[in-house]
Amino acid sequence: MKDSSFLKEFLFRKTQVGAIAPSSKYLTKKMMTGLSLATAKVVVELGPGTGVFTEELLNLIGPKTQLLIIEINTRFYNDLKEKISDPRVTLINGSATDIEIYLKKMNVIEADFIISSIPLAVLPSSLRNRVILSASQALRKKGTFIQFQYTLQSQKLLEKVFSGVRIKHCLLNIPPAFIYTCTKE
Ligand SMILES: C[S@@+](CC[C@H](N)C(=O)[O-])C[C@H]1O[C@@H](n2cnc3c(N)ncnc32)[C@H](O)[C@@H]1O
Repeated sequence: MKDSSFLKEFLFRKTQVGAIAPSSKYLTKKMMTGLSLATAKVVVELGPGTGVFTEELLNLIGPKTQLLIIEINTRFYNDLKEKISDPRVTLINGSATDIEIYLKKMNVIEADFIISSIPLAVLPSSLRNRVILSASQALRKKGTFIQFQYTLQSQKLLEKVFSGVRIKHCLLNIPPAFIYTCTKE
């Protein structure tokens, strides 16, 4: 999918897509830095859009890692379905509020890493809470949840739900982004 099509999806569904363009390669790298993805059993990606993080994840995860990808937008989902043919991937057209349900269908209990692009700041607060709780419940103890955002609006919520929250900044993205790295006790 072209960047112009991403913009079109944004114009039709602002509060779902939450960005005018796909994330930069710099943000992509910074999101994944320091994560032991090669030895992970289960990785979840929330809101892949056109798949910029997905491509990098497929390079970084191990041969036995299972990657669950959840995208709510049917156009993005259909494009990804055409593009990805990797036996490690389970691609779902569904909601990030239901991670445990999809893991269960894969006979998996929990995830080691959850990488999220969900536009928390533009969601109604009840939906935002449900997404974060869904991620926290699906994550194993000592697992890591990584979320990027354009503001620090969700910091308090993430600090309430996770035992540790570190924040990095990525200037080389439009717009510049904050990366939350959250751990579960
Ligand atoms: C800001 S875009 C990020 C796309 C891509 N990961 C990137 O970084 O370029 C947010 C993505 O989250 C998806 N999304 C929004 N709400 C969702 C939900 N509840 N469950 C799954 N995906 C969702 C949107 O459709 C969109 O693809």
